[in-house]
Amino acid sequence: MGPGVLTLDPALLAGIAGRCGTPVYVYSGNAIRAQYHALQDALQQIPHRIHYSVKANGNLGILRILRQLGAGADIVSVGELHRATRAGFQPEQIVFSGVGKTEAELEQAVRAGVGFIHVESAGELEGLIAAAERTGRAAGVGVRVNPDVTADTHPYTKTGERTTKFGVPYDEVVGLARRIATDPRVRLRSLAMHIGSQITDVEPYRRGTVRLLELVAAVRASGVHTLECVDVGGGLGVRYHEEELPSPRDFAAAVAPPVRAAGLTLLLEPGRFLVANAGVLLTRVLYRKHAGGREYVIVDAGMTDFVRPSHYHAHHEIVPLRDGNRPSRVVNVVGPVCESGDFLALDRRLPLVEPGEYLAVLGTGAYGFVMSSTYNARPRPPEVIVEGDRWYVARPRETLEDLVRGEVDEPVEWQRL
Ligand code: LLP
Repeated sequence: MGPGVLTLDPALLAGIAGRCGTPVYVYSGNAIRAQYHALQDALQQIPHRIHYSVKANGNLGILRILRQLGAGADIVSVGELHRATRAGFQPEQIVFSGVGKTEAELEQAVRAGVGFIHVESAGELEGLIAAAERTGRAAGVGVRVNPDVTADTHPYTKTGERTTKFGVPYDEVVGLARRIATDPRVRLRSLAMHIGSQITDVEPYRRGTVRLLELVAAVRASGVHTLECVDVGGGLGVRYHEEELPSPRDFAAAVAPPVRAAGLTLLLEPGRFLVANAGVLLTRVLYRKHAGGREYVIVDAGMTDFVRPSHYHAHHEIVPLRDGNRPSRVVNVVGPVCESGDFLALDRRLPLVEPGEYLAVLGTGAYGFVMSSTYNARPRPPEVIVEGDRWYVARPRETLEDLVRGEVDEPVEWQRL
């Protein structure tokens, strides 16, 4: 799947936009399956499990597709635990990462039987042991390691460097492993890393995996023999624009051999790789406008619906659904939100589009809807899933009433301490 190319039939998309209105997210079930199989095939030679990273796109319909493919889930909150279990994922096949899990979250995860609770600090380990004590259940633990490797990606999505907030510092891991081994309420099952997101080079994975395997050896040498898995995290990049990508086979070749040699199962936590290019955001052109020598295309989707261009200056291809040769223009594609940072593309050469026509913003299946907001009191858009020539609304458009649900305009219950 490349950029600039619609993997979904434009006529079908126009029909969906007509029925559901715009903006609307549309996802292709088959595009997700193709990505999953590509990764699965590349890893055939090694015992492994793919844990889909729910944060990329947590729609229950998407989760169901991945669960049916045999994926486990990677979660970062009890909200995602709720989604994953609602979609039928077995708790045993869930990994729970995150630097700031609360006592309540740890307890719920232990109670639910989450297979791998990743601790990211010594303090959190003590919290987890306390949660296991309270619930009377033993907890499966992974130590998320800070592998101290740099990946070339956006500063906001680098997570493997020595100075980040993520993971246990490399030289503290063996001590933590020994602490776990001496406590019957916790069992050390894996060492994990996640070095960043939208990574387009396998070298940081190779280096990070070697670092993890050095730690596996050190942990074993210290007398701890319970490790079952090495988790190399997510982060596999996709093609949004002109990125040169390694193939899933290149990736497998970089990470699998040392894990296999150690007799361990390889775990992965991909999000974006599985869903980004399976999704488009459809939007309608409202107006064209000129200002100070710039040309604007004003559309009905904004940063509230899709924040990646504003937040990361991310490039997402935009293509009109209507074909035909037309002259092109360099334009800014902007939304209706009251912020100058509300844009989908700046200085972009696009065919001369007209008010009323539909545009598809590509590569929006990951970190799209999940990062949307209702700022400016804009109801969030619907999500549609396409299977072949059929489709269904997997989440309806929010209503105006949804926007005020639960709010109190007339105080009825004053409280005093
Ligand atoms: N595992 C962990 C522990 C993570 O923190 C993440 C993503 C993943 C797996 C999945 O990463 P992926 O395979 O999707 O790259 N909002 C940003 C991306 C933030 C990623 C955060 N962690 C964006 O729109 O680019």
